[in-house]
Amino acid sequence: MSDYQYDNETVKGFIISSIFWGVVGILVGLWISIQMWAPSWNIPPYFTFGRLRVVHTNGLAFGLGIGAIFGISYYITMRLTKRPLLFPKLARFHLYLFNAAIALAALSLFAGMNQSLEYAELEWPLDIGVVILWVIFAVNIFGTIIKRKEEQMYISLWFIIATVITVAVLYIVNNLSIPAGLFKSYHLFAGVNSANVEWWYGHNVVGFIFTTPMLAMFYYFLPKSTGIPIYSHRLSIIAFWSLVFAYMWTGAHHLVYTPLPDWIQTLAIVFTIFLIAPSWGSVVNGFYTVGTDWSKMQTNYLTKFFILGITFYGLQTIQGPTQGLRVVSQLIHYTDWVPGHVHMGTMGWVTMTVAASIYYIIPRIYDTEIYSEKIANTHFYLVLTGQLIFSITMWITGIQQGALWKAVNPDGSLKYTFMETLVRNYPYWRMRTVGGMIFTIGMLFFIYNIFMTIRRGQSLAAAKA
Ligand code: HEM
Ligand code: HEM
Repeated sequence: MSDYQYDNETVKGFIISSIFWGVVGILVGLWISIQMWAPSWNIPPYFTFGRLRVVHTNGLAFGLGIGAIFGISYYITMRLTKRPLLFPKLARFHLYLFNAAIALAALSLFAGMNQSLEYAELEWPLDIGVVILWVIFAVNIFGTIIKRKEEQMYISLWFIIATVITVAVLYIVNNLSIPAGLFKSYHLFAGVNSANVEWWYGHNVVGFIFTTPMLAMFYYFLPKSTGIPIYSHRLSIIAFWSLVFAYMWTGAHHLVYTPLPDWIQTLAIVFTIFLIAPSWGSVVNGFYTVGTDWSKMQTNYLTKFFILGITFYGLQTIQGPTQGLRVVSQLIHYTDWVPGHVHMGTMGWVTMTVAASIYYIIPRIYDTEIYSEKIANTHFYLVLTGQLIFSITMWITGIQQGALWKAVNPDGSLKYTFMETLVRNYPYWRMRTVGGMIFTIGMLFFIYNIFMTIRRGQSLAAAKA
C-alpha cells in the first residue's frame, strides 16, 4: 500500500503539537534553572518555582513526550500493520482533545491546582480527560492491530501495546482520589500506602513513557534509516518480556530508608538490579545492528542520534539500578545528582530518539528531502554538549551536597549548616543554565530544519498540482 493512503495529517498534527509543547516546557525549564541561583526570577503568584516546575515536567513528559508517542505510534502502527488507522476521524478528534487537555493542564498548574503527587499533579476533572484521551488511543491502536494486513508482529508493536496497557493501569490506580470540590481532591490511599502507590506509578511512568515507546521508535527507525536489519529479533523479544515483567516491581527504590516496610524496599532493589539485563538487551541489539557497518555513523546523520541516544539509555540503566542500592541512595537521594540522572535520560535518550524519528518521518510524509543535514549535525552536537554540561555539573554538585550534609564533627554535631551547603551549589547551578541554553539553541536548529523541510515539501506539492 502506498504512503498517500495513510492518515498522515493526524501524525503531522501530533508531531507539530509535540514540538510546540516541547518549546514551552524547555523554556520553562530554563527559567526554573535560573530561579535556582537568582531567586528574583520568581514572580508570585503564578511564576514561582513551585508552579513553574510542574509546568516544566508536565509540559515535557505529557506535551512533548505523549504528543510524540501518539503521533509516532500511529505512524509506526499503520506501517507495521500495512493498513490505515481503523478510526481516522477519531484520531483527528484525539489530536484536538490532546491539545485542549495540555492547554488546560498548563493553565490549572499555573493557577496552583495540584494533587501534590509527582507526575500526577492534575486534579480529577483533568484526569478524566486524560483517561478519555487514552481510551481513544487504545481503541485505535488495538483496532488497527486486530484488523492488520501483515500477520507478523514486529517488536515495535509489542512495545506500543505494553505502553497502552500499562499507562492505563498506572494512571487510573494512582489517580483514585476523593473529590472535595471541582478543583481539589484527596488521594484514596493514605500515608505510606500513598507513597508506595505514587512511586509504583512514578517509576513506571518513566518506564512506560520515557522507555517502552522510545524503544518502539528505536527498533523501527534504526533499521529503516540505516537500511541494516535489526541484529536479533529473538533478543528483542526476550528483552521486551523481561523488561515489562521486571519494571512493575521496582517503584519502592524511590523510597529507600523511608517508613515503607524493609522487605518491600529489598524486593524493589532486587528487581532494580535485574533491570540492567533487559535494558542492555536492547542496547546491545542496537550496537550490534550498526556494528555490521560503523561507517553509517559518518555517512548517515540519523545513526548518530539513535546510537548516542541508546548509549545514554545504556548509561542511564546502569546508573539507575546503582542509585537504588541502599549504600548509594543514602548519599545521593534528595541531592542534585538525581536531576543529573533524569536529564541524561530525558535530554539525551528521549529527545535524541524523538528528534531522529521526526527527522525520518517529516521528509517522507511531505515527499521531500531534509532541508539541511548540516543543520541537523549542528543540532546534534549542541544538544549533546548542553546535556553533558547539565548532567555532569549536577553529578558533581550532588555528591558535594550529599557529602557535606553527612559530614560530622567528632562530637557528632553537623559540620555544615544547610545554608553553607546550599551556597556551594551556585556555580554548578549557573553552569546548568549555560548547558540548558546550549541545548535550547540546538533544539531551535532542529525546529528551523523541520519548518524549512515542511515549507519545501509544501512548495514542491504546490508546483506539482
Ligand atoms: C534500569 C533503568 C532505571 C532504573 C533502575 C532507575 C532508577 C532510578 C532511581 C533509583 C531513582 C531514584 C533516585 C533517588 O531519588 O534517590 C531514579 C530517579 C529518576 N529516574 Fe531513573 N532509573 C532508570 C532509568 C531511567 C530512565 C531511562 C529515565 C528517563 C529517561 C529515568 C528517569 C528518572 C526520573 C525522572 C527520576 C526522578 C524521579 C523523581 O524523584 O521525581 N530513569 N531512577
Ligand atoms: C533546557 C533544557 C532543560 C532545563 C534547563 C531543565 C531544567 C530543570 C530544572 C531546573 C529542574 C528542577 C530540578 C530540581 O527540582 O532540583 C528540572 C526537573 C525536571 N525536568 Fe528538566 N530541564 C530541561 C529539559 C528537560 C527535558 C527535555 C525533559 C523531558 C523530556 C525534562 C524533564 C524533567 C523532569 C522529569 C524533572 C523532574 C526531576 C526530578 O524530580 O528529579 N527536562 N528540569
